[in-house]
Amino acid sequence: MPETYFDERIATRYEAYWSNLFEPAVVDPAVSFLADLAGTRAALELGIGTGRLALPLSRRGVRVHGIDLSPAMVAQLQRKPGAADVGVTIGDFATTKVDETFTLVYLVRNTITNLTTQVEQVECFRNAAAHLEPGGCFVIEVYIPELQRLPAGETIHAFTVSPTHLGFEEYNVATQIAFSHHYWVIDGRLETFSTPHRYVWPSELDLMARLAGMTLRERWSDWNRQPFTSDSREHVSVWEKTA
Ligand SMILES: C[S@@+](CC[C@H](N)C(=O)[O-])C[C@H]1O[C@@H](n2cnc3c(N)ncnc32)[C@H](O)[C@@H]1O
Repeated sequence: MPETYFDERIATRYEAYWSNLFEPAVVDPAVSFLADLAGTRAALELGIGTGRLALPLSRRGVRVHGIDLSPAMVAQLQRKPGAADVGVTIGDFATTKVDETFTLVYLVRNTITNLTTQVEQVECFRNAAAHLEPGGCFVIEVYIPELQRLPAGETIHAFTVSPTHLGFEEYNVATQIAFSHHYWVIDGRLETFSTPHRYVWPSELDLMARLAGMTLRERWSDWNRQPFTSDSREHVSVWEKTA
């Protein structure tokens, strides 16, 4: 089983550290996008965490199940209203099976990059496809590697700079790993979080989808369906199970 970085400390502070992710302007378009795809049927969230999207999606009438490695993150979910309607399996989403098929499988907030080898990412696509009904969709939200914006020879990209939160990534192009570092000042104390990520381009994800019997149906720049262009910083991609 891969290591989980989302331990008790991170789980209890998840909403405080990444409070912007819980704003309606961030949550609502994602939930609407996913609800449009799921219709009245069931959805599986890989890396469900504290239920940031799963709970509002469930409230929209979609039956949601989740897989997550971290009992601490899932414990936070289970304390929230509506949690009884969301099933969770503890395990690695690259390999863990749920005995059910779904119309929609989704994996958001760059979490595909928590799998730090190509083999694991390919396994994840295969696992997603194995849980989809024919014609069902796999959705990923993930950032575009920032390499083209780095000054020549630089390997560090600062993605958040504010008086209380500094976040930056250190790219290694030989290993295709970016270490992500966060430093927060909370109640006058410094708190940190560092994790390795396998950054991945859309074209490589399309190939992983093809290996798993899925083809690209849509690619957008965000959940509001803004066009995906060479300036996009992230993408929301939808692959359809075709084989
Ligand atoms: C950035 S959080 C996102 C949580 C939630 N999807 C959200 O949008 O708020 C990533 C979550 O994925 C889980 N995770 C990371 N790697 C995993 C793996 N290989 N298998 C299962 N869960 C994993 C972590 O435990 C954590 O809960």
